[in-house]
Amino acid sequence: MSASVGGGGRTTPEQLTAAAVASFDGCADERLRTLLQGLTRHLHALAVEVGLTQDEWSQAIRILTETGHITDERRQEFILWSDTLGISMLVDALAHPAPPGATESTVLGPFYVPGAPLREYGADLAAEPAGDPAWIHGRVLDLAGRPIADAEIDVWQNGDDRLYAVQRPEAAEDHLRGRFRTRADGSYAFLAVRPVPYTIPDDGPVGRMLVAAGRHPWRPAHIHMIVRAPGYRTVATHIFDADSAYLGSDAVFAVKPSLLREFVRRSADDPERPTGVEGEWYSVESDFVLVDDVEPA
Ligand SMILES: [Fe+2]
Repeated sequence: MSASVGGGGRTTPEQLTAAAVASFDGCADERLRTLLQGLTRHLHALAVEVGLTQDEWSQAIRILTETGHITDERRQEFILWSDTLGISMLVDALAHPAPPGATESTVLGPFYVPGAPLREYGADLAAEPAGDPAWIHGRVLDLAGRPIADAEIDVWQNGDDRLYAVQRPEAAEDHLRGRFRTRADGSYAFLAVRPVPYTIPDDGPVGRMLVAAGRHPWRPAHIHMIVRAPGYRTVATHIFDADSAYLGSDAVFAVKPSLLREFVRRSADDPERPTGVEGEWYSVESDFVLVDDVEPA
């Protein structure tokens, strides 16, 4: 049914919405039709619900224009909108429902660079001093608790200057990142540094939205990893420092309770102190549980 045109009656908001939605009825691509009609319906519903004014809509268009202008190969303001409005996490949750016991996924974030070097069991991620040493270790397992050998853990993190290597052109390219393979018993280990909270880029339209809304741009301390193994679903996730600030108000809503890990303080004379570590250090135990990648019947 299309909106009435002519006939002398007044055109209602409902008729306008119906006409815009119906304009996609002939779209041959069924999925595209669903997306466009859903977008139109929900945008119209938003305008109706909040009583959107013309000034507000003009401002929204100016903000979207500015978002496009500030975006380039290194700065992605649209992803920041997606992250800070919680859409990135929602889409991830819809795409990767994790069965009980499986490691939950979270945002990939903007600082992942593929091609990190393959490193030996226990190797140091840092190419230069970057914070308190943290020995990260555990196993990669399947849902039945069986070890997965030769799984790959692709790791990247920030240092105590809050920055990822990719944000520092002067830093060694492979600083604070690396790939590790599990041993026959599913075990892995590497020497990281204790990560620190950091702000998402907040000098653009998203930053101004956060200020206007009384929100902050901080993310709680975390280490990123992607865990891959043949025959299993790849999971992009984090280890969050369970003692970090901002766990309850992550600017991008990426915290899941199952991903919190305790950074245990260890003394300089602890017999388990990893080679090359001096002074106090931390240890973190974290297993990753992968789901079989079987096609649904
Ligand atoms: Fe991060």
